[in-house]
Amino acid sequence: MSDLSVSDYFPWKRVKVASQAVHVELRSALVRIEPDQRYWPLCGECGGPARTVHSHSRRFIRDLSFADFEMLLQVEHRKVWCDACGGVRVERHSGGRSELRSLFELAEDSTTELDSYIEEGEVHVAVVGDRIVGHLQLVDTAGTLRSEIRNMAVEPGYRRRGIGNRLLGTAAEIARARGKTQLVVATAAADVDNLRFYQRAGFRLRSIERDAFTPAAGYTPGTVIDGIDLRDRVWLDLDLRASGRAA
Ligand SMILES: CC(C)(COP(=O)(O)OP(=O)(O)OC[C@H]1O[C@@H](n2cnc3c(N)ncnc32)[C@H](O)[C@@H]1OP(=O)(O)O)[C@@H](O)C(=O)NCCC(=O)NCCS
Ligand SMILES: [Zn+2]
Repeated sequence: MSDLSVSDYFPWKRVKVASQAVHVELRSALVRIEPDQRYWPLCGECGGPARTVHSHSRRFIRDLSFADFEMLLQVEHRKVWCDACGGVRVERHSGGRSELRSLFELAEDSTTELDSYIEEGEVHVAVVGDRIVGHLQLVDTAGTLRSEIRNMAVEPGYRRRGIGNRLLGTAAEIARARGKTQLVVATAAADVDNLRFYQRAGFRLRSIERDAFTPAAGYTPGTVIDGIDLRDRVWLDLDLRASGRAA
């Protein structure tokens, strides 16, 4: 057994073999692997140092065979996140847009409008494990120094933990890298939460489009948000040359 190593087959790091039992006659072996407590855990998402272990679990791996031995691995897992990323990674979305439609709908009440722009630009997503929990659609306005956040949302159960701000930071970083000087976004004047969210991130009010949310554009008449009629659209912008926020 001593010349067998699981490290060639599995990517685990900082683990130790806690025990092993070999039955030569049965040509089988049980190996228990657990985290090596001598090391600080590393974040499962970004690889940075982490201090908190979020959960422990145990998993059996069967049907392995090494050198004619039937192997049973019993692996102790730790789910570890660092404070920096919270277990959330942001990446460019490579799949189709239709799988993100329900997220887009959280930020767009008009089917007509959504159909008209859902395929535009690029989309960055916030991912926890293999689940997409937020998105941001970034559209470059051709021939200008401006990029627009056309649509963004975070699943209700994942809000207020910084994911929205991280998506904004990613958008600002990308636009800046392309030499853009302004990041713009539009929201409903009635949506006071959004106005606060964007202004706290450094955006400033730019202009107002009165009566933008009309039935002709696909919005349901009589929609009320926070007790305010859905009528006017507010444009905000962030100056990407100034140090001011969205990061
Ligand atoms: C707007 C939206 C994307 C924000 O996403 P989010 O992930 O909740 O954003 P954040 O967590 O970064 O910030 C939200 C608030 O939580 C606060 N917050 C951030 N981290 C926090 C934490 N760890 N604990 C408590 N609060 C926190 C922020 O300060 C922010 O406060 P504010 O809105 O009063 O400024 C989300 O609310 C959403 O999907 N809304 C519906 C769709 C929509 O309207 N989209 C915008 C269309 S223009
Ligand atoms: Zn991390």
